[in-house]
Amino acid sequence: MPGPDDILRDFGALLREGAILPREERAAGPLRVGVDLGTANLVLAVTDAASRPVAGLTERSGGIRDGIVVDYAGTVRAVRRMKAELEARLGEKLLRAATAIPPGIHPGAAKAIGNVIEAADFELACIVDEPVAAARVLGVTDGAVVDVGGGTTGISVLRGGTVLASVDEATGGTHMTLVLAGALRLDLAAAEAMKLDPAQARDVFALVRPVVDKMAAIVAGVVDRYPTLDTVHVVGGACSFEEFGAVFAARLGRRVIKPAEPLLVTPLGIALFAGEGR
Ligand SMILES: Nc1ncnc2c1ncn2[C@@H]1O[C@H](COP(=O)(O)OP(=O)(O)OP(=O)(O)O)[C@@H](O)[C@H]1O
Ligand SMILES: [Mg+2]
Repeated sequence: MPGPDDILRDFGALLREGAILPREERAAGPLRVGVDLGTANLVLAVTDAASRPVAGLTERSGGIRDGIVVDYAGTVRAVRRMKAELEARLGEKLLRAATAIPPGIHPGAAKAIGNVIEAADFELACIVDEPVAAARVLGVTDGAVVDVGGGTTGISVLRGGTVLASVDEATGGTHMTLVLAGALRLDLAAAEAMKLDPAQARDVFALVRPVVDKMAAIVAGVVDRYPTLDTVHVVGGACSFEEFGAVFAARLGRRVIKPAEPLLVTPLGIALFAGEGR
């Protein structure tokens, strides 16, 4: 039985190779689509009815800021284009999609996110909280899931499969880039490129570590309300740094687990909700 990391690696391979899971290997039933409209990345994830990854596509995002649609037309065009590309690869139409929001955003902003999905000709299955989507992929029913994206850090606490709390804070990878840019007097594009360069990871982490400490303090403010909670799962692009988990573990005094393909956990999790009604 493959575990979450195996499934995430499979999804990562499909996405990077532009490949699809062959039809004969898929479970019967409609394909499920998850659309993650992130500040940094747009991701479409497709699974079969048994939650196996079937295909995926990602591109840079320009029209979303912290769960708010700032360029509606551009984002709709991008999602339509991505949907069409996946349909061409799969040789079939994608009908129904779920999407996600940072926890606690204004209902009006959530509605705009849903409108993007419908304007891209999907039937909208539901809108879930991002860390709740991630928790489903990871099979977390007891613990906290923290999604550290580009613009937002979402935290959900689950017990017995029930979500006890979901909160969102306006920090993420963009903050790290800003700190790097400020410290080294770089423009934002140069700072972002440096941040993503594995050869410079140690130097970069030394400079962005205070941001990670601050993120951990924010997460502590939530999870410390649950003294019996012993495990925190971190996902999202900004937790990619190797030492990220250790800094979190030291501050939180809890076990911190980072899955394979942290950037892809939430998008894949969203697709798992597309089989559900509104
Ligand atoms: N290898 C890496 N090392 C450090 N940071 C990374 C790495 N890969 C991606 N990131 C950062 O992760 C962030 C993007 O993560 P993700 O795709 O989870 O965000 P998003 O979903 O678009 O944003 P949000 O959820 O906040 O709206 C960016 O700030 C990016 O610079
Ligand atoms: Mg995100």
